[in-house]
Amino acid sequence: MSSTPITRFLTGITTTGTPHLGNYVGAIRPAVQSSLRADVKSYYFLADYHSLIKCDDPARIQRSTLEIAATWLAAGLDPERVTFYRQSDIPEIPELTWLLTCVTGKGLLNRAHAYKASVDKNLEAGQEPDDGVTAGLFMYPVLMAADILMFKAQKVPVGRDQIQHIEMARDMASSFNHLYGKDLLVLPEAQVDEQVALLPGLDGRKMSKSYDNTIPLFVPQAEMKKRILSIVTDSRAPGEPKDTEGSALFQIYQAFATPEETASFARAFAEGIAWGEAKQQLFERIDREIAPMRARYAELMANPAEVERILLAGAEKARAEAAPYTRELRAAVGLRSLAGSEHQTSAAGTGSSSGEATASATAKPPVFKQYREKDGRFYFKMTAANGELLLQSKGYDNPRDAAAAIAALKAQGPAALDAMRPQLEDHPSSMLDAIRNALDVLLTLQE
Ligand code: TRP
Repeated sequence: MSSTPITRFLTGITTTGTPHLGNYVGAIRPAVQSSLRADVKSYYFLADYHSLIKCDDPARIQRSTLEIAATWLAAGLDPERVTFYRQSDIPEIPELTWLLTCVTGKGLLNRAHAYKASVDKNLEAGQEPDDGVTAGLFMYPVLMAADILMFKAQKVPVGRDQIQHIEMARDMASSFNHLYGKDLLVLPEAQVDEQVALLPGLDGRKMSKSYDNTIPLFVPQAEMKKRILSIVTDSRAPGEPKDTEGSALFQIYQAFATPEETASFARAFAEGIAWGEAKQQLFERIDREIAPMRARYAELMANPAEVERILLAGAEKARAEAAPYTRELRAAVGLRSLAGSEHQTSAAGTGSSSGEATASATAKPPVFKQYREKDGRFYFKMTAANGELLLQSKGYDNPRDAAAAIAALKAQGPAALDAMRPQLEDHPSSMLDAIRNALDVLLTLQE
């Protein structure tokens, strides 16, 4: 039973604008492909909190969220296989944003490219440096770091322009770990795929909305054909050999075709294919890949409630990880229940200097005991460090089940409690905080 180690991939998609072929070839298609790998666990989310920084049109935010969710689903992202969610459905993300805000130097944020670009533009125009700059734009990298760190992502597939943001997320994670306990947060790495070609647009420059040279991914067939016919070519006549080098038409073809198809397209160029014919072939090749997706896209766009259902199910899956992890992080920084805090304060009093005080230094973990009763059944209990009984189980048929329950409590902390309730004796609700707190301490200590 050899098992490959799993790498956690995560990427956010800002919900502004309409996806075009460049987004598809450069981001969506490779992401869907890598999500199918057995050694990858992927998290994809709609970064709608981020979109508020750039866009104050509520209808457009909503529309774009639907379009982008439908695009990724139509392109083959399987929500059963990956965790696909909407950022604003995960309240733990803004919560982590604040924890990170408090360990992030303002100077670090001053150096962010996007913020610096705004400042430079203002200065050039003779304005105040921060003119029109919202705190949201300034804080963008912290929110993005929270996105990444919340799910312990190891690899973050992004474009070159985002590398600095990943480095900043690493900086924030290191500061946090340094203050509160090593390995609490996982340091992410940017993954920039050198393989995926930048798709040229209609005019031969990089395909980009800001150049207005895009081919939208899911326009109706006729419109897509019209766009393809408008790709700029040189003036060589039919029968004259054509250069593949530097031809946007050829490069776009290559991004969709197999190596064999590409080779035969290159031969057609050498043999003097007419530009009109080459464009027709390009259209057919793209349409072959896109047409089935376009149909699925139309279905989803006509059924927003279905997309909503998928996103909410994804959020539930995501929060099953985010909620217990957030409790752990809260406990680490000292946002803890006060019930059962006597041992914590007394331990803190005996020694540890405030700067280094961590949960592990200030609280003692609970103790588990597993045992067999005269009735032949297997039990466990959890007691506080001072001997106070916190949890008492009912009888299990075999020792493995009792051990599994203990292991679940140790691994998941308070999150494991609810599901286990039928197997636990009733405990007074006044003790619930002490129980959660003890389990939180345990989680923190394991880091
Ligand atoms: N900033 C990214 C972009 O503009 C979008 C994004 C938001 C993101 N949060 C993220 C990307 C987390 C990767 C990981 O493309």
